[in-house]
Amino acid sequence: MTVGEALAATTARLATAGVPTPDVDARWLLQSVVGGPGARVRLDSRRPLHSEAAARLAEYVTRRVRREPLQLILGSVGFRHLDLLVRPEVFVPRPETEVLAGMAIAALPAGGGGVVVEPCTGTGAVACAVASEASPRLVVATDTSAAAVQLAQDNAARAEVAVDVRLGDLLDPVPADLRGEVDVLVSNPPYLAAGELRGLEPEVVNWDPHDALVAGPTGHEISDRLILQAPQWLADGGWLVMEVDPERAAATVARMTAAGLADARMHNDLTGAARIVTARHGA
Ligand SMILES: C[S@@+](CC[C@H](N)C(=O)[O-])C[C@H]1O[C@@H](n2cnc3c(N)ncnc32)[C@H](O)[C@@H]1O
Repeated sequence: MTVGEALAATTARLATAGVPTPDVDARWLLQSVVGGPGARVRLDSRRPLHSEAAARLAEYVTRRVRREPLQLILGSVGFRHLDLLVRPEVFVPRPETEVLAGMAIAALPAGGGGVVVEPCTGTGAVACAVASEASPRLVVATDTSAAAVQLAQDNAARAEVAVDVRLGDLLDPVPADLRGEVDVLVSNPPYLAAGELRGLEPEVVNWDPHDALVAGPTGHEISDRLILQAPQWLADGGWLVMEVDPERAAATVARMTAAGLADARMHNDLTGAARIVTARHGA
């Protein structure tokens, strides 16, 4: 079988299984078996596909047909300029969160330095991107999942950046001497209500950890707690930068204002959805 024939057969098999982007996924899987995990090689459709690569492709296709996320099969995902490890028990970073990381970077002091805290870090995507693209003095990240903490530590080491990753609820594990010193508090917390999982794609419902998706009965529970804690931790002029469900963005802005934060507003992601909210501490 040639690479071209394998690509056509894989695309057809994924399409029949209802995978949303069969052609894109087939190409990624082929690139990975030909060039190695996460590789972006040019596929020469006339070349033969060796038996070892064909066997690996068959295994990957079986997994994708069962709707295992493509990123978990490949083992890593691109996030801004980083290549992050992903693992089954940790939320897979989404492209829209790259905008959140960019806004956190833009909110840091222009001349470098600054303290960044990221509760709900998951793979560590946002914390690692900020640490690698800006020059903060300190980046602290937290998560209640031990698997996420381990993965975020592994990703920080892989990206060769300093991120202090701690296990625990929101800001509880952050050193107390950072109260009033945080320049950017950035987070993509769980923001769905339990009933909202119904109707989502199998890749989300069956693979993303429940605690990464669902905040509680209303979806606001975790972001509300973070908003209430933010004024005690932010420096004067420091920013809270949060990813939210676009359906909840306006309500989140109102809650930020009610908590005493200034300039609360919504920002669009790359698809035009109001997915980011920001507010400032101080006059
Ligand atoms: C939507 S995921 C976001 C992960 C990552 N920041 C990203 O954008 O890819 C939410 C993360 O919050 C963590 N989490 C849930 N409740 C938490 C809490 N009370 N305190 C800290 N982390 C929490 C979950 O384990 C999960 O890793």
